[in-house]
Amino acid sequence: MEGKAEKERVCVTGAGGYIASWVVKFLLSKGYIVHGTVRDPSDEKNSHLKKLEKALENLQLFKTDLLDYEGLCAAFAGCSGVFHVASPVPIGPISNPEVELIEPAVVGTRNVLSACEKAKVKKVVVVSSAGAVAINPNRPKDRPMDEECWSDLEYCKATQNYYCLAKTIAESEALEHTKKSELNIVTVCPSFTFGPMLQSTMNGSSLLLLSFMKDGGESVKNMLYPVVDVRDVAESILLAYENPDAVGRYICSAHSIRAQALAEKLKSMYPNYNYPKSYIEDENDGELSSEKLQRLGWKYRPLEETLVDAVRNYEENGFLVEH
Ligand SMILES: NC(=O)c1ccc[n+]([C@@H]2O[C@H](COP(=O)([O-])OP(=O)(O)OC[C@H]3O[C@@H](n4cnc5c(N)ncnc54)[C@H](OP(=O)(O)O)[C@@H]3O)[C@@H](O)[C@H]2O)c1
Repeated sequence: MEGKAEKERVCVTGAGGYIASWVVKFLLSKGYIVHGTVRDPSDEKNSHLKKLEKALENLQLFKTDLLDYEGLCAAFAGCSGVFHVASPVPIGPISNPEVELIEPAVVGTRNVLSACEKAKVKKVVVVSSAGAVAINPNRPKDRPMDEECWSDLEYCKATQNYYCLAKTIAESEALEHTKKSELNIVTVCPSFTFGPMLQSTMNGSSLLLLSFMKDGGESVKNMLYPVVDVRDVAESILLAYENPDAVGRYICSAHSIRAQALAEKLKSMYPNYNYPKSYIEDENDGELSSEKLQRLGWKYRPLEETLVDAVRNYEENGFLVEH
């Protein structure tokens, strides 16, 4: 990656998370000075950040929560760009979706955008989700979904899909905000993100991939998974920031694969794990198009590379032990 002639200061929210850690790593390697917000700088789960190359000189962590407006203002001071990556990604069942998911995602994004304005930030990349695109019973059936497609809020509520509900509200408000603000706001919507983790704790999407190899469920829904490598997601987020032509929202998804095909691919490479026994057919899904992002210059790696690097990472960190 090319270095930057002049050091530019940017901030990444939720810096210790799965995707954000790769964003921080790439920003540091390109010569940016990086501010990272974390909820607890002394927590062991953020310790990997300090070990990243150039972190000692160019990474500064700020303790703040998305609901702490003043804390966000302090973290963004002096920054020309913000990467808003933080948002709750539930691993297990949640008891209070309003407090645990919707408020941090929606009010959190509002706080980030208004703190950006206060700090005179020029550009913000908001990380949304394919979950803000695809959860809609009336989505097009004859072609892949593109950036015109939005998840249906009422359908998300009716199906208790509060994560997608929260991401859809947060992203649509962020894009609406561009109409009344000088702030340049671009959104990126990654699909299921797999690949090696920089952090030592498990995150939601890595756990999903791991579940295919570990849980060996009796029967699993043969869903179509749109997937993308975490490093390609981080690259897309930097591209959306650095390319002055970037505008609006970008779907970031590389491959579509059914659960059974994914498990069989993994099994052919790693036979000694515990794979699902059978599959229940599921037609209730569609493909995503990342053509707009590709036109901006985005490239993605083959799925096999993502899987090999992810499995090596799980084995090295003790998340997967061969029988
Ligand atoms: N992984 C995927 O498959 C995927 C796909 C599409 C979109 N996304 C989006 O990508 C972003 C990152 O997700 P990820 O997969 O990297 O998940 P992750 O590892 O769980 O990261 C989520 C981050 O958000 C932070 N966070 C949550 N609630 C917060 C709050 N109230 N205040 C401050 N920080 C808060 C977490 O901080 P703590 O460590 O303190 O909890 C963590 O750093 C999210 O916006 C997610 O919706 C992920």
